[in-house]
Amino acid sequence: MLVLRSFMILFFSCITIKINLCFPSIPSSLKTLSIDGHFDFEQVEHAAKDFGNRYSYLPLAVLYPKSVSDIATTVNHVWQIGGGSELKVAARGHGHSLQGQAQAHRGVVINMESLQGLKMQVHTGNFPYVDVSGGELWINILRESLKHGLAPKSWTDYLHLTVGGTLSNAGISGQAFRHGPQISNVHQLEVVTGKGEVVNCSEKQNSDLFYSVLGGLGQFGIITRARISLEPAPEMVKWIRMVYTDFDTFTRDQEKLISGQSTFDYVEGFVIINRTGLLNNWRSSFNPQDPLQASQFKSDGRTLFCLELAKYFNHEDMVLVNQVSHS
Ligand SMILES: Cc1cc2nc3c(=O)[nH]c(=O)nc-3n(C[C@H](O)[C@H](O)[C@H](O)COP(=O)(O)OP(=O)(O)OC[C@H]3O[C@@H](n4cnc5c(N)ncnc54)[C@H](O)[C@@H]3O)c2cc1C
Ligand SMILES: *[C@@H]1O[C@H](CO)[C@@H](O)[C@H](O)[C@H]1NC(C)=O
Ligand SMILES: *[C@@H]1O[C@H](CO)[C@@H](O)[C@H](O)[C@H]1NC(C)=O
Repeated sequence: MLVLRSFMILFFSCITIKINLCFPSIPSSLKTLSIDGHFDFEQVEHAAKDFGNRYSYLPLAVLYPKSVSDIATTVNHVWQIGGGSELKVAARGHGHSLQGQAQAHRGVVINMESLQGLKMQVHTGNFPYVDVSGGELWINILRESLKHGLAPKSWTDYLHLTVGGTLSNAGISGQAFRHGPQISNVHQLEVVTGKGEVVNCSEKQNSDLFYSVLGGLGQFGIITRARISLEPAPEMVKWIRMVYTDFDTFTRDQEKLISGQSTFDYVEGFVIINRTGLLNNWRSSFNPQDPLQASQFKSDGRTLFCLELAKYFNHEDMVLVNQVSHS
């Protein structure tokens, strides 16, 4: 036992020595970088958590950038160290990934939400847009653009997600059938490339980079700024939910609605399983004036399907909207 134990101690100290030899200076070399923000080498646990709660990898450090050049400096430094170090870098938006996508095992996590350099700028006119930071939450973009009577064209259901986070995926919700996903409603991106260069890209400029980064799962560069297409925000919305017990009827109706010309502005289908309490939430989202319809409803343990629809309108079109939704 004693022999074995001393062997183990020796063995583990060898490992420690080896690690120190191979990567003698990575955390300390990061400390020497001249940046506006800062690195945290101590409090890194939160960067090993995400919404999915299934994977947890501790990084060496978390970067809190104050400027785009902080990100560029850091990525360039890691690139200079070279592939041998296997030092990884991951951008972290709001950490709502499900499978550790925004984590970097023994690497550097960049906390994008602390990048506050760019004040949101809404541009009105015939083709309105807004320039936002890659770490901005969509909820804030909505609030800011609404001040100008405008709103992004394509959304996710849940708005406490960052621009960089959803543009790295697709960003899908009930407007996608009309406008495409969020990645189809971006005019231009500013990206920090894998070498730490800051580059603007669009359909016309560095288009390879543009189309790689959009939906690129954070693997082709870090989005530091995005130009998002806007449209006039509706004054009012008629919101309808229809529940189906039959899958074929549900999909037939959905296909009809998304292929029609002037039907709804928002169409989304989802599955309701009477197991998790979701159905109760769903019930409470009914208009209080409609309690009868809502309470008559029984799933008898079956899986149900729901179409959620919205029609945008202005005050003067109220009557027309009610006609459309009844037909
Ligand atoms: C409750 C909930 C509801 C959701 N609803 C929808 C929905 O309706 N529609 C939909 O499409 N998706 C939805 N999602 C999924 C969500 O869009 C993705 O998980 C998205 O990546 C999360 O954004 P985030 O800001 O939390 O990113 P994170 O989880 O922090 O990061 C996600 C990925 O993007 C990368 N990344 C983050 N920021 C940047 C950046 N600036 N530049 C480059 N790469 C970056 C990360 O490295 C990682 O790979 C939902 C998720 C949850 C938890
Ligand atoms: C990218 O474009 C924005 C806005 O058009 C500009 O302010 C910024 O300086 C550009 N960045 C680079 C690296 O060219
Ligand atoms: C949900 O399922 C339970 C049994 O699992 C049943 O008692 C209840 O009535 C169901 N709810 C609805 C709304 O159908």
